[in-house]
Amino acid sequence: MKKSTVFAVAMKKGGVGKTTITLNVAEALALCGFSVLCIDNDEQHNLSNGLGVKMGAVDISYLYSGEILYSSFHNYGIYDTRVPDLYCVPCSSKIGDVKFKDRSVLSSFIKANPFDYIFIDCAPGSGLIQNEIALEAADFFILPTLLKQFSFTGLNEIITIITNGLNRAMDSVVIVPNDVDVSFQGSIKTNKHKEFIKALNVMYPKNVTDTIIPHDEMLDDMITEGKSVFLDRFKSSRAAKYFLQLVFELFPIKEADVYEKIMDKRAEHRSAKARDNYFKNKLQPDQGK
Ligand SMILES: Nc1ncnc2c1ncn2[C@@H]1O[C@H](COP(=O)(O)OP(=O)(O)OP(=O)(O)O)[C@@H](O)[C@H]1O
Ligand SMILES: [Mg+2]
Repeated sequence: MKKSTVFAVAMKKGGVGKTTITLNVAEALALCGFSVLCIDNDEQHNLSNGLGVKMGAVDISYLYSGEILYSSFHNYGIYDTRVPDLYCVPCSSKIGDVKFKDRSVLSSFIKANPFDYIFIDCAPGSGLIQNEIALEAADFFILPTLLKQFSFTGLNEIITIITNGLNRAMDSVVIVPNDVDVSFQGSIKTNKHKEFIKALNVMYPKNVTDTIIPHDEMLDDMITEGKSVFLDRFKSSRAAKYFLQLVFELFPIKEADVYEKIMDKRAEHRSAKARDNYFKNKLQPDQGK
């Protein structure tokens, strides 16, 4: 059976872009034709919402509590998203009440359900068992970081957990600078951000991506409205192109293929949207008769 490549997207500090990066990288890979599963490990369930998951009764807390066995969890806990080939195991506030029984249950579920790529969006905070379980289940670790002093402290802490606590090689760590002040020409605007990027590269010379994710006001609205930067705002979103750049930096995909595939999907999406609007407008005058 093929094995999924599993990424935990983690950082103790909240609001650094874990969910934003998980969602956009996963979506770009799915649009390129890979099968992708996102696992939401955070009771805020921002990832599940952002992917437009229509929740049923079951979420990841049923797997962790043992109420549903890992061997049958795929029948209940894997949901469609607004993107074909992209699936999600959602989370809810129930996770706060779970009595965790078997720490290997997530790894067992992942092993039994192969996808090309699996992303686990970790919760902020420290000492959460579901985050420890996610890190144990992962092959690689994506650590989004803001260019601020506290992020450096957070990075040191999580890298120590990964390398000392879990005994993983430093090669498995990918650090992605997020929310960077970038000019329209693509260069970093402020000296402070330039200095931080330089310092990051000195500290972790093999782990910081060349791709930086710029500040993009639109990202927040896109997640809240459950829209896609690739399908709905590709031309106007600054960050969309940088997410794709990140995807070709990290994954074995050719740049030209990605653009071609995304443009095709975008055309399909636009004609489906136009068709829906046409029928909606056509049907509206009759409503209520
Ligand atoms: N590059 C960016 N430009 C502008 N806004 C951004 C960027 N990245 C993230 N954001 C916004 O910052 C906020 C936090 O991002 P996100 O939810 O991805 O962080 P997080 O690390 O998952 O947070 P939490 O730890 O609470 O789960 C969101 O409102 C998001 O839209
Ligand atoms: Mg989040």
